[in-house]
Amino acid sequence: MASNRKVRFGIIGSAGLIGNYHADILTRGEGPYELTAVCDINESRVRNQAEKLGIFGTTQVSELVARDDVDAIIVATAHPLHAECVIAVVEAGKDVMTEKPLAATPADARRLVKAINRKRRIGGIHYQARANPAIRKARQMIDSGELGKILSIRVTGSYYKSDYYYSLGGWRGTWADEGGGVLINQAPHEIDMMCYLATGAAPTELVGRWTNLYHQSSQAEDFASASGVFPNGVQFILNVSVATHGDIRRIEVFGTAGAITLQGGKFTRYIRYEKDLIDFAHTYEGPDPYAGPEVHDQPLPEVGEDDPSLIHKMFAEAVLTRKKAKMLVSAADGLWSQETINAIYLSGYLGKKVKLPVSAARYDKMLADLIANAREVRRPQRESEEGRIAT
Ligand SMILES: NC(=O)c1ccc[n+]([C@@H]2O[C@H](COP(=O)([O-])OP(=O)(O)OC[C@H]3O[C@@H](n4cnc5c(N)ncnc54)[C@H](O)[C@@H]3O)[C@@H](O)[C@H]2O)c1
Repeated sequence: MASNRKVRFGIIGSAGLIGNYHADILTRGEGPYELTAVCDINESRVRNQAEKLGIFGTTQVSELVARDDVDAIIVATAHPLHAECVIAVVEAGKDVMTEKPLAATPADARRLVKAINRKRRIGGIHYQARANPAIRKARQMIDSGELGKILSIRVTGSYYKSDYYYSLGGWRGTWADEGGGVLINQAPHEIDMMCYLATGAAPTELVGRWTNLYHQSSQAEDFASASGVFPNGVQFILNVSVATHGDIRRIEVFGTAGAITLQGGKFTRYIRYEKDLIDFAHTYEGPDPYAGPEVHDQPLPEVGEDDPSLIHKMFAEAVLTRKKAKMLVSAADGLWSQETINAIYLSGYLGKKVKLPVSAARYDKMLADLIANAREVRRPQRESEEGRIAT
């Protein structure tokens, strides 16, 4: 470990969209970390990046994980590659923070978490939306009992994408190289927050449905919905899409004493009931057949500013202190959303309710079928603003 108590980071997939974001965060000097090495299979881009940053660059994962000046590695490749990269990192004795989602399939996600545990490494996942102070406050409100018994949670998200987006990387929206569409790529943040706010686990059972409404540039779904139940009885409804637009990502939590709404990571509504909903239901004696307890709007909870690097700072603290509890989101917690996403795919494919966790073998069989029957995608080939040809 570095003597100046800084975690020395490397990044795999450093020259991609999110890889560059991590490089930026790690070189701002705002936390107990520094960036010492980058790795990307795109040779010219990683060479330019390493030169610009004045650090080591390579196209070989094996070279990066073997370096003595690297303590921890961020995995920022496409999700079907996360498992093999994470396993290479922990086998080399380094700590790891992977991008979301953990993987494309349950088998990969589970073996990735097992490898981190077996090698006793610190393993995190970049669910940075969890650093949002409003989300943390919402969880406190739920834990404190302020909302009463939590009955249900409703999550919607629109993440509109054009064909240009799908042209940026050959893996996007393909069954073989991405393992799905909106559910596995854009929605994991909301699904993670839903699991976190509902209870801190995956649901026990759900019904899922998904379809492609109009994206010829994607083989996978651009619209998905699901409903189900968490182990503590909290019901959920989820609706996510890259086809719809303008609906700010919304999370609504309904309790027996009150309810909250968060839109785009900010509180937009907080209500409390004059009387607990269950008490009212059992004690009201008429005469109004439609009566309910009075609803009182509350001042919106005050929260601090979002710190986008909080997740990096807390992961680095965990690495320095060897205390997993310091991490904001562990890789094992990443399984909550992963199991949910994979269950929605399988349920939609089978056209029936599924219990979680789903069979990894059944999932792999489904994915093999979707890959075998995937349609050819029509994608514009153009140069991105970074001047690279979309592959
Ligand atoms: N947390 C977030 O908000 C967020 C945002 C965007 C993307 N992501 C996640 O980050 C991951 C990458 O997404 P992206 O949009 O940056 O993709 P991208 O295609 O822009 O970047 C991936 C990079 O990985 C490189 N790569 C591929 N195989 C490699 C290998 N074997 N070794 C080294 N480098 C390799 C590619 O050359 C590319 O530069 C995905 O899992 C995605 O879900 C997370």
